[in-house]
Amino acid sequence: MIWFFDSWIGGLTVLHEFRKILPEYDYIYFGDNARCPYGSLDDATIRQYTEEGVEFLFNQGATIVILACNTATAHAIRYLQQVRFPDRKILGVTIPGAERIIEGWYSKVGVLATESTVRNRAYKDRVHIIDSTIQIQEIAAPELVPLIESGVFEGEIIAEVLQTHLAKFDTDIEAILLGCTHYPYVRSTIEQIRPDLDIIDPGYESAKKFASYLERHPDIEAKIGKGGNLKEIWSKKI
Ligand code: DGL
Repeated sequence: MIWFFDSWIGGLTVLHEFRKILPEYDYIYFGDNARCPYGSLDDATIRQYTEEGVEFLFNQGATIVILACNTATAHAIRYLQQVRFPDRKILGVTIPGAERIIEGWYSKVGVLATESTVRNRAYKDRVHIIDSTIQIQEIAAPELVPLIESGVFEGEIIAEVLQTHLAKFDTDIEAILLGCTHYPYVRSTIEQIRPDLDIIDPGYESAKKFASYLERHPDIEAKIGKGGNLKEIWSKKI
């Protein structure tokens, strides 16, 4: 089983990428829809909610947990990996996303994300550990998650919100990174507004990296249930 965690439906976009590349495995998805959105909460609360979610999954028998949420990854992954669950496997989405920026040889990239991910400089700091010459512009789009959660993926309001935030990036950025796992739902509108940009989806990058991780770790691969099944768990009944 590969276990996924997100504040609600955003992580389903990551799960979708995993199932495309690795369809043979069994997956369990947990969405904390009772407490979404995380993106506008303070740092300590995001860390606490993420810790509780991951603990819940380990109590259910999880062996590998994917934090399919940039906000949760940005605020909690180091603490969870190094302090709270040092002997467990927890992976996030921000490192594969940042690595894609570096591997793409870009000189200026825009990151659209939640307020808290921007405040945390999740992508800027990570990229600059390797290459401080790459310019990273991080912009928050706080209206998007509530709109997407209410089922609005396209149309006038989404276009207006995206126009407003995309206009804040320098015109010469070469790529835009979808720094929230909810944003692939509005990807087509982003492509319409800025057709000149490469789009980086950390969910897709994470799935690719995970596939290669499993190839290098056959012992771990052997323990993951196969059958292509998916089970969803929600913290609030839907
Ligand atoms: N899907 C989460 C992310 O990737 C954010 C959603 C929320 O604000 O709860 O950042």
